[in-house]
Amino acid sequence: MNTLKVDFNRPVVVGKEFEYIKQAIENGHISGDGPFTKKCHAFLERELGVPKALLTTSCTHALEMSAILLEIKPADEVILPDFTFVSTVNAFVLRGATPVFLDVRPDTLNLDESRLEAAITPKTKAIVPVHYAGVGCEMGAIMEIARSHGIAVMEDNAHGLFGKYKGKFLGTFGSMASQSFHETKNFTSGEGGALLINDPILVERAEIIREKGTNRSRFFRGQVDKYTWVDIGSSYLPSDILAAFLFAQFEQCEKIQMHRKQVWEMYHAGLKDWANAHNVQLPHIPDDCEQSYHMFYMLLPDLERRQNLIAYLRERGVYSVFHYLPLHLSDMGRSFGGQVGDCPVTERVSDQLIRLPFHNSLTSSEQEQVIDLLQGFPF
Ligand SMILES: Cc1ncc(COP(=O)(O)O)c(C=O)c1O
Repeated sequence: MNTLKVDFNRPVVVGKEFEYIKQAIENGHISGDGPFTKKCHAFLERELGVPKALLTTSCTHALEMSAILLEIKPADEVILPDFTFVSTVNAFVLRGATPVFLDVRPDTLNLDESRLEAAITPKTKAIVPVHYAGVGCEMGAIMEIARSHGIAVMEDNAHGLFGKYKGKFLGTFGSMASQSFHETKNFTSGEGGALLINDPILVERAEIIREKGTNRSRFFRGQVDKYTWVDIGSSYLPSDILAAFLFAQFEQCEKIQMHRKQVWEMYHAGLKDWANAHNVQLPHIPDDCEQSYHMFYMLLPDLERRQNLIAYLRERGVYSVFHYLPLHLSDMGRSFGGQVGDCPVTERVSDQLIRLPFHNSLTSSEQEQVIDLLQGFPF
């Protein structure tokens, strides 16, 4: 009987999560912006060297905040990769923007910077690069094009915390960046996110938008003697219980990243020859990039073999998954004019991509079993 079970993802306690949650309750402050939220902010600001980090209830909400901060309005155009999660686009469409889907590079699956210039129009208000799998986009070229046209850059860094491009942390290039702490990410609070703010001029308004459009943050700092409604906003701040969980994970940063590096390298070493022999594409890490070790994906030769492989692994107790569908071909994407053939690389890789089990408690013996199974897959 087959008793093997290798989860795609498994949330695990890595340090003092339970102790800190208890402490958060004993602190008498379990709503937002309590002591643990402040510790998380300080950790991100110190480690990344960003002027301001604000925890949010999700990366989706950090993206929504950025769209408000960039004053996106109906008829504005926002350029983003076609191969990304719906939240990257929804945040801007919610403000009335028209999305412009750019195809991705066939090697890194990141926004293809060589197509960027041609996609810019007088209506372009923002460019939203996504660092897929925590491997940096070509930020040198992207920032230069954005600067020359006076267009804002907002990095969707959901996957890329602690990844680097040319020695600089991902999330520190644009005027802002979003992070995700969803349970599949390197560091998690179940659901959660953060907005990193690199342009200090945006900080005060970001605090207001995050606090329901009120100047409550200034009130708590004693800068005003009562707080009131001063802008649009929503409730984007997480409970301090979630921040307590997250901070315990941050404290184990080195251990988590070291383990994930080992997992990634074991897959890569174990599958290199097999991939070459079967026309399977493994992830490409450009020399300029240090990845965040968020995931391990492979591109199978075609959809049929990708689907067969997912089924083959599942029948043997190993859970693998595909990833994004082309946004321009979704119902919403088509309503903005998306048609088959608009983004050929995304259309192809979306069919071919498979993600292998990858999480903070994956063992080398589980990985060995996954690698052995892959090597027995009947192409
Ligand atoms: C690129 C990207 N952006 C945004 C998100 C949304 O993250 P969250 O679930 O924290 O809202 C995801 C989700 O995984 C993602 O992959």
